[in-house]
Amino acid sequence: MKTETGISEVNRKAIAKELAKILADESVLRLKTRNAHWNVEGGDFYEKHMFFDVQSMELDKIIDTVAERMRSIGHYAPASMKTYLGLTHLSEQIVELNDSQVHQRNSYGS
Ligand SMILES: [Fe+2]
Repeated sequence: MKTETGISEVNRKAIAKELAKILADESVLRLKTRNAHWNVEGGDFYEKHMFFDVQSMELDKIIDTVAERMRSIGHYAPASMKTYLGLTHLSEQIVELNDSQVHQRNSYGS
């Protein structure tokens, strides 16, 4: 599936390495977004539920574009959580409350 780009193999490998990190970040962010979509609570539940659904679909498109770009330069796209967790810059944040309005108040210090 490699497309002839005129980019050397050394540079394609370096690009693929960076794209894998982006793919990992976007994939972990997508899972976090699905978590928010599924588990958000509060008076604005419906708006936030729909917002996170749209956000998740947009992330799907980005993830697909990054993975296909990796394939087009002759490299495989990683597709396992284990690999993503080793590459991502993101970390877990476990919260006990899922009420978006409580989080908003806490974020602004009131
Ligand atoms: Fe849903």
